[in-house]
Amino acid sequence: MAPTALVSILTDPLRIVNQLLLPHTTEYVQIDTIEQAHEAIRSMKIRGAPAIASLAALAFAAHISRGTDASASFTSSPDAVRAEVESILAFLYTARPTAVNLGAATRRLTATLNASHASGKDARTICEDLVAEAHKVADEDVGRNKAMAKWGGDWLLGRHGGENNLNVLTVCNTGSLATSVRRIWQGTIYVHVLGLSVVGTALGLITYLHETQKLGMAYYTQTAPYHQGSRLTALELQTLEIPSTMICDTMVGSLFQHYKIHAVAVGADRIAKNGDTANKIGTYNAAVLAARHNIPFIVVAPISTVDLSLADGSGRIPIEQRPPIEACLVRGAIYPADANSSQATVMITPPGLTGIYNPSFDVTPAELITAIVTEKGVATRQPGELTFDLSTVV
Ligand code: MRU
Repeated sequence: MAPTALVSILTDPLRIVNQLLLPHTTEYVQIDTIEQAHEAIRSMKIRGAPAIASLAALAFAAHISRGTDASASFTSSPDAVRAEVESILAFLYTARPTAVNLGAATRRLTATLNASHASGKDARTICEDLVAEAHKVADEDVGRNKAMAKWGGDWLLGRHGGENNLNVLTVCNTGSLATSVRRIWQGTIYVHVLGLSVVGTALGLITYLHETQKLGMAYYTQTAPYHQGSRLTALELQTLEIPSTMICDTMVGSLFQHYKIHAVAVGADRIAKNGDTANKIGTYNAAVLAARHNIPFIVVAPISTVDLSLADGSGRIPIEQRPPIEACLVRGAIYPADANSSQATVMITPPGLTGIYNPSFDVTPAELITAIVTEKGVATRQPGELTFDLSTVV
């Protein structure tokens, strides 16, 4: 339930690409209220751990920027600002539970609130500090993604003796659609704009290999049931003209048996202190198979994805269970193309089916991970150790 005290009208127009309709329809959805931002994240119109933190921060900033307008009710005192901010952040935090970036953003904004409040600033100045910090949250991806791509790409090249034509498998979508590139165009703020040449996290590593002429083939799983791979990664790789091959989720073992794969590179939604990593469902399967085939398994994620408050990931990372119906439906374009109806959602199970397991994420134990890459560098496990010391990369 949304807090009732919210003033829900935002001042700056804010738009996102509706990822539920990609790749067949490009629709920009306007986010006018905190409640709409929450709904867009929950329904996965926008998804990807860094991207959802960005939208939350930008929606928050737009709302709080009203605080610089003396007529806004919550600017009457620093305590009124505090009540408003705490209420909004607590609400946004509930949109999706697994990606820690959302929590990291809300904690960071709470810290800004506390610092500004404690230093005796007036309500308007506290609001200005909060808006500036929220914009920083939304603007950090571009630089850090480039750094991660290079760290991870160079590490992999070193491991393979500078070999050319590396083949890399990825899971889900960790490209520009999963991260954030705030752009202002014609007076409207966009979290990302299709067609902009920006890199993601694990997909950034693949892009880096391609740009340095070291990539053979990018493989990616379809990533059922939401199909981030076949809908979004496919679109990004096609747009970037990166040589790529899609496989069904069930084909990872076959791929490893029949093709030389030099690495698996994935993103992360939450990394525990010991390196256990929650990521899109199917990541653990790929990690088990990679270990069996002695293929390096690399996690690429910003520092904001590391949750040092969790000693490990076994049972401690909240795993989002998506509505069962989502595992029964496939969304896409009518094929062959139908001029009257371009998009359809099709049920692939008997109507009324019960007994459906639909976790959105799984946890890959640290012992199956070869390297964890952040914007600060690459962490590997010490010989004989089953866990990571992440202190050098956070
Ligand atoms: O459910 P999603 O699509 O939000 O899940 C996304 C993932 O699992 C990504 O791999 C992760 O958020 C990293 S995105 C850079």
